[in-house]
Amino acid sequence: MQRVRTPLLVRATPSPTSPLLPDTAHKRIPDDSHKRHVRVNGTDVPLHAPGVVRGSDLKAAGLRVYDPGLANTLSCTSSITAIDGNKGILSHRGYRLEELVQFTSYTEVAHLLVRGALPSRKQFEIWTSLVHAAPSLTAARAAVRALPRDAHPMGALVCALAATGAHEHSPMQDTVHSREDSAVAVLRAMPALAAAVLRHSRGARTQFLRLPREGVNWSAARRFLYLVEPALVSGSGARARVAAVDALLIVHADHEQNCSTAALRHLASSGVDVFSAVAGATAALYGPLHGGASEAVVRMLGRVGGVDGVHTFINRVKEGRERLMGFGHRVYKNYDPRARIIGALVKDVIREARGNRVLLDVAQKIEEVALKDEYFVRRKLFPNVDFYSGLVYLSMGFQPTAFPVMFALGRCAGWIAHWLEFMDDSSKRIVRPHQIYVGEMGPRVVVPMGERDDAELLPWTKSRQAKL
Ligand code: CMC
Repeated sequence: MQRVRTPLLVRATPSPTSPLLPDTAHKRIPDDSHKRHVRVNGTDVPLHAPGVVRGSDLKAAGLRVYDPGLANTLSCTSSITAIDGNKGILSHRGYRLEELVQFTSYTEVAHLLVRGALPSRKQFEIWTSLVHAAPSLTAARAAVRALPRDAHPMGALVCALAATGAHEHSPMQDTVHSREDSAVAVLRAMPALAAAVLRHSRGARTQFLRLPREGVNWSAARRFLYLVEPALVSGSGARARVAAVDALLIVHADHEQNCSTAALRHLASSGVDVFSAVAGATAALYGPLHGGASEAVVRMLGRVGGVDGVHTFINRVKEGRERLMGFGHRVYKNYDPRARIIGALVKDVIREARGNRVLLDVAQKIEEVALKDEYFVRRKLFPNVDFYSGLVYLSMGFQPTAFPVMFALGRCAGWIAHWLEFMDDSSKRIVRPHQIYVGEMGPRVVVPMGERDDAELLPWTKSRQAKL
């Protein structure tokens, strides 16, 4: 079970503090914070924490918050993951990511996220026997087989999760105990579902492989790679492959209120079953601005035109004609620590696999040019987690459409941890934001169809009419 420790990573100094709020990450909240007020709209509005007001207190003072992208909204409290975006620090329950990657396995990190602590030997045995037990796959088998072979594996994974939820659905999550059972059921199923959708898209006759009996003691990465293709865990390079995938699973395990986790909490707030909530989170992850960026990066690197095309490509980005995929982040205004880890890993993995360095050379040149360029420096745009991850998977023979599936597999532990935290949160409410309505106020009178004005045709109707 011991994972190979990569010498690439520098051991991080443990953080003495526990970050809580963005931009005040290293400051503890003073106990008297409830006595402080801020004067808004002629009213004293209490500060919930330094620099933070409650939406309900603002509402009482006659103010609403308009916040597209929820860029300045703290939607919950959480004790799972802390990010100091200005310093580029990520930690889970107080452990720095670098420390976890170097000294633990993904299975331990999943326990840390979901159960709140790194497991003792005994806890690890129990946890492993729970999450490595055979999952219930009846509905997923039918769902995956029903899809065309060229269906995108992420869409197929959404279907497989939703099908499992539809089949397993029960009001099981009413007690803490039954919620934990539901959570474990997802963790148990996810590797089999992720592997099956990848096998389906590769044209394999059997989508769901069985692990050998000794597989119960294998690492999460080895189990997953075997389920995708048994040859991936044997022969030359297998050890390095397994170690790299385990490190990548840890790197992707959680990232506080990112788009998919926020979507999962949003869905969970309606009381939907956990498989459906995870299916929704997977759908959110699929998009190219989130976990789908790894796929988009590799496609982008392929059309830059080699190292010689980098300057022209960067100019196109600055002119707004391209987006530099794998760069920029809502929270990090410094180098993403996940990108630093993967950037170090990718060179070794490609060397070990005797893989093609062409795209890596292009990526490194882009990074070199962008980090010196005023456009990126001024906007604090750095490589993010998705910039190098696809190159690791590519060197192992995975297709670009497989990359977000690997992201979902790792992130599943974080989603489950957030789901349990949310379900246990006494302050949870159904998530139901408001809007500023900018449409017609009316009341308008419905005119019979034959009397309506053609001049009011909307642009998309006009362009389609031309084709009729
Ligand atoms: N390429 C070019 N310009 C960019 C980029 C980029 N990748 N990212 C941000 N900018 C510019 C943006 O145009 C804006 O410029 P201006 O101030 O002149 O309007 C400025 O930087 C601020 O960007 P923003 O769009 O307000 O940032 P955001 O926080 O709304 O979006 C983001 C964050 C990740 C969606 C965005 O940086 C992006 O589209 N990056 C590329 C896609 C990508 O790599 N996504 C993976 C994110 S990491 C995985 C995860 O989701 O956890």
